[in-house]
Amino acid sequence: MQARFGDGYLSPGGSEELRVMLRGLDLSGARALDFGCGVGGASIEMLREYGVDHVVAVDVQAPMIEQARGRAAAHGVLARIDFRVIGAESARLADAGGSFDFVLAKDVLNSVPDRIACCREILRILRPGGVLATADWCIGKSVAGGLRERYVELLAAGGLRSTWRTVDQNGAMMIDAGFASFNQHDHTSDAILDARRQLVVAETETRRATSVNPDASTLERRDELTRTRLKALESGEIQHWHLTARKAGAGEG
Ligand SMILES: C[S@@+](CC[C@H](N)C(=O)[O-])C[C@H]1O[C@@H](n2cnc3c(N)ncnc32)[C@H](O)[C@@H]1O
Repeated sequence: MQARFGDGYLSPGGSEELRVMLRGLDLSGARALDFGCGVGGASIEMLREYGVDHVVAVDVQAPMIEQARGRAAAHGVLARIDFRVIGAESARLADAGGSFDFVLAKDVLNSVPDRIACCREILRILRPGGVLATADWCIGKSVAGGLRERYVELLAAGGLRSTWRTVDQNGAMMIDAGFASFNQHDHTSDAILDARRQLVVAETETRRATSVNPDASTLERRDELTRTRLKALESGEIQHWHLTARKAGAGEG
């Protein structure tokens, strides 16, 4: 999976997309939370390339955290990341209020059971003026072909739950949670290009898998996931959006 998304990533777009998500943000010296860090690629890049000083990286899957720890050690940044396994249902982080400058949640909120509680908790741990940046799969406007349902079924078969909303619902949720403002950016056309690119990579992988690797059926399931995602994106049944939300600054409403 990572070969397709880029080293250290479990979500489409990898480090190229991280660059788009972080564009315009000054993260120098920041204390950042990587919420749903997966295998740690974004945590490491925030430290090495964006001037972040310290990262707390949390995920519900202990094996992901273990891989992320190994990757952080290999990149020489282990001392600057606190890794933690958290419960999927827990709406409380162990951190003091106002203790983070920045929170990243790349392709994670769309799996969180109680999204509003999660956003309120993120707001609590951000300092005044702090920023949340998310990438999120959203319910699209077209409902024609059952492709979104098929995609969600395939995700569920791989153990990923989908608590998707429309982009408008996501924006409204930020205000309900108490953020002062938010911006959204439609990333769907890039997600389409990315899925096409992944399928090109997949062709080579699958050929290799059938000749020497017994795990060809796993690769075929991943390809089906990518093909279905591509069709659902192209048909407008699903969308991919970036959002940044800001907590009110000190003395602001
Ligand atoms: C699609 S992966 C993205 C990982 C990483 N952000 C990246 O871009 O590579 C989603 C990650 O979110 C984690 N996750 C799912 N539900 C979560 C929750 N309720 N709280 C924290 N992490 C969660 C999963 O274990 C998984 O590692």
